Amino acid sequence: MTSRIIGTGSYVPARVVTNDELAQIVDTSDEWISGRTGIHKRRIAVEESTGYMAAEAARRALENAGITAEELELILVGTTTGEHCFPSVACEVQGEIGAVNAVAYDISAACSGFLFAMDTLQAFIRAGVYKTGLVIGADCLSKLIDWEDRGTCVLFGDGAGAAVMRAEDFGLIHTVMGSDGERGNVLSCVARTNGSFVDKRTPQLGYVYMDGQEVFKFAVKKVPECIRQVLDESGTDIEQIKYFVLHQANYRIVEAVAKRLKQPMDKFPMNMERYGNTSAATVPILLDEMNREGKLEPGDRIVLSGFGAGLTWGAALLEW
Ligand code: UT7
Repeated sequence: MTSRIIGTGSYVPARVVTNDELAQIVDTSDEWISGRTGIHKRRIAVEESTGYMAAEAARRALENAGITAEELELILVGTTTGEHCFPSVACEVQGEIGAVNAVAYDISAACSGFLFAMDTLQAFIRAGVYKTGLVIGADCLSKLIDWEDRGTCVLFGDGAGAAVMRAEDFGLIHTVMGSDGERGNVLSCVARTNGSFVDKRTPQLGYVYMDGQEVFKFAVKKVPECIRQVLDESGTDIEQIKYFVLHQANYRIVEAVAKRLKQPMDKFPMNMERYGNTSAATVPILLDEMNREGKLEPGDRIVLSGFGAGLTWGAALLEW
């Protein structure tokens, strides 16, 4: 018994912010941003919270799967940008969509959050604990960005993607996940926990900090490594893979991964030019677009892979 994705959904805010618009607030240019990252524009939340976007993506995924919210037994949200420390975004979603029979909680693995959530749901389904669940990747990094830091503010966008998974005989074939807490300092954001009774210090929120080159080097090494691992451990020939659905951070990272895997670029769909890096939402938003465009057919083998703060990374091999 394994789990299969039976429906997908996504949501992005309506507000479009172009590179030219960013060039009016920081010392940057469309040429630099699109040339170095592949990003041309992104969607930025105005009224929307992470929970709102996640619930919208969830509704669309349920509709696509043709099931009701009451059928869900578990809701996992990969996110690091909930409006509240508590309750969790997953509980917000549960309340919004009326998934009265579901257990709901968040998973914190930054941009790898959707993959980590999927792996967790898969473990519950394999163990026979649950049969039907919802995994969501949702983030609103625009609220954690220093809009004066050109090194980070040009990279991110907001959005959410969701997948309904159900116990079936085929679907998810194998997953691998990894973490390296010793290198957590290269991509971080201070949380509202640095207050102090002794120093009478009030907690303050921090901004996203990133050593871009270190993250770049980590990504181009780890992503191909974990993709090879997921294929080797499942005895799968790489030529059988129709698509590699990767975290959408930078087209140069995707190109480097393709080169290392010796695979053609047409197996690597991308949408970062429209949405930027939506953190935990990149993989499920792209998957949802591919699903709705009819690019995925029964029997197709695809690999999902992501990386992010933690450091964290992972890959999932599945049959559609
Ligand atoms: O979800 C995971 C999140 N993060 C990532 O995946 C990020 C991985 N890293 C990257 O994608 C790239 O490292 C960046 C896109 C962040 C940066 O590209 P880079 O080619 O590594 O540029 P760099 O950091 O080496 O900077 C090159 C130059 C510097 O100027 P000098 O020192 O050469 O004069 C930067 O100050 O570009 C400058 N720069 C900018 N210029 C215009 C940095 N940001 C900007 C900007 N506009 N927005």
